[in-house]
Amino acid sequence: MTDNADKSMDDIVSLCKRRGFVYPASEIYGGINGFWDYGPLGTQLKNNLRDAWWEAMVLNPPKGPDGERLQIVGLDSSIIQNPKVWEASGHLAGFADPMRKCAGCGHFVRADQLWEMLATSSEWVDSLLQVFTPITGDIDTPRLMDWARKKGKKLAPNLALVRNPEVTLSWLAQRVNGQPDAPVEMKEFMRHVATEQLNATGLQEPCPRCGGELGEPAPFKLMFETWAGMVQNDDNKAYLRPETAQGIFINFKNVVDTSRVKVPFGIAQVGKAFRNEVTPRNFIFRSREFEQMEMEWFCHKDDATKWYKFWQTERKRWWESLGLTSDNLIMREHDKDELSHYAKEGAGTADVEYRYPFTAPGFGELEGIAHRSNFDLTQHENHSRTKLKYFDSARGELAKNGQPKGEHYLPDVIEPAAGLTRGVLALLCEAYTRDDSRPSPEFLKLHPRLAPIKAAVFPLVKKDGMPEVAEKLHDELQQRFGRTGFIETDAKQSIGKRYARMDEAGCPWCFTIDGDSLTEHTVTARNRDTGEQQRIAIAQVGDFLHKALNI
Ligand code: GAP
Repeated sequence: MTDNADKSMDDIVSLCKRRGFVYPASEIYGGINGFWDYGPLGTQLKNNLRDAWWEAMVLNPPKGPDGERLQIVGLDSSIIQNPKVWEASGHLAGFADPMRKCAGCGHFVRADQLWEMLATSSEWVDSLLQVFTPITGDIDTPRLMDWARKKGKKLAPNLALVRNPEVTLSWLAQRVNGQPDAPVEMKEFMRHVATEQLNATGLQEPCPRCGGELGEPAPFKLMFETWAGMVQNDDNKAYLRPETAQGIFINFKNVVDTSRVKVPFGIAQVGKAFRNEVTPRNFIFRSREFEQMEMEWFCHKDDATKWYKFWQTERKRWWESLGLTSDNLIMREHDKDELSHYAKEGAGTADVEYRYPFTAPGFGELEGIAHRSNFDLTQHENHSRTKLKYFDSARGELAKNGQPKGEHYLPDVIEPAAGLTRGVLALLCEAYTRDDSRPSPEFLKLHPRLAPIKAAVFPLVKKDGMPEVAEKLHDELQQRFGRTGFIETDAKQSIGKRYARMDEAGCPWCFTIDGDSLTEHTVTARNRDTGEQQRIAIAQVGDFLHKALNI
């Protein structure tokens, strides 16, 4: 197994393009930052993940903590809603990133992601670390001076180390030579190499792009704006939803009034969300248009902690069932200062985090499980002046007849909110495998249930009746397995190249029709992960595939 830390995002992005999973949006016009298009295989993979989630939530939800049957219904709400929704939800006032502007190059940086960016995506940091490693404190003053004058000047002209190398290097030499047992930490190192006049100005975080001085944080609004109607003025201003969740809250009463649901129950929704992210990056990890799979679980406040724990365990287990290895997944409880405005009212938020190649050995968010208390329903009840309280006939004091009198309340909400497009990325990263000893060194070990191509049928050569037999088998398999993926058939190129192509597409099985197929009615079945081949009867291929795919 290839460790995720050893996987290259460039290789993964390139395979995704080559095999038609993901393309840069508007590519023929030079692209548009933060937007991606899903090709034939990417669309099918994304649909398969979406359907697996829908099944696990709505059609066949898990049993509850006490073995009880859970009730979760679906919804598909509008992307554009009355702007008052975003006023009530707090997004209009609070949904903004703290941004800092660099005085040197004018670049904006998210204040809360500065160190992460410096560690992962800065050309000058990478280059500088080749001449100095903070942890070992291996100082070679002439080399660093040389770096400052040449590469540094080009990559980070505003860096203090570049503008004033003598002062900065003398600090470094003192710090390293004076304390050999206390290695210089990355953060400390960065602050100093970026500070123009250490004594005069104090410590300063550097701009990831040029090493310059960053201004004070100021809020930057994340919601995309548009207009609904003919007149494009403030009265007609509307917003593209930044989360699917609010569509669920504003339909809470509709669902209660028109279906038989009883608290506790859930409402699930999959759909697009839009955020004008300041730094869209890491391929489809953080984009400006993306898809979410969110479920709002409405429960009595006395049971909220129980359900919060339940959904944490359940959601991590679900991602593992789709092939993400437990080594690459963790559950992390948010620190107090990380909590969203709604979660502050509740008991907190935990994230299912995945070890992406660009975060390895660390982890990055895949799904959040938030205890939102009754924050959203309260806000919508107050802003819309519509009663949203639920009447629970099974609660409340007991009446004289021994029956509960009932209780009116706004339920608490536990929200497992996953990224669909981010989930596709995690699956692709997990599946990407490189083995240079194979004739097809790059392949995708996708879970058969999610694989966009379920199987391929190849005639060994394009003659002697082989294409006709392949065509027939293809049609049979397509009929039986075509609901969740393609059955490919292809007669071009050598058989090795065709296998390699299918390996890169994550196709679990290939069946090859050769001379013996015509006389002995058998085919070669080839396994994607091992490359092993076995002979099976043509008549058995359907059952064989059914068992092998386990779907
Ligand atoms: N309703 C709660 C909510 O929206 P969130 O943590 O902001 O919470 C939930 O988003 C999930 O949506 C995240 O865990 C992530 O998987 C996905 N997500 C959020 N912003 C994203 C972006 N810019 N690009 C891709 N996925 C994103």
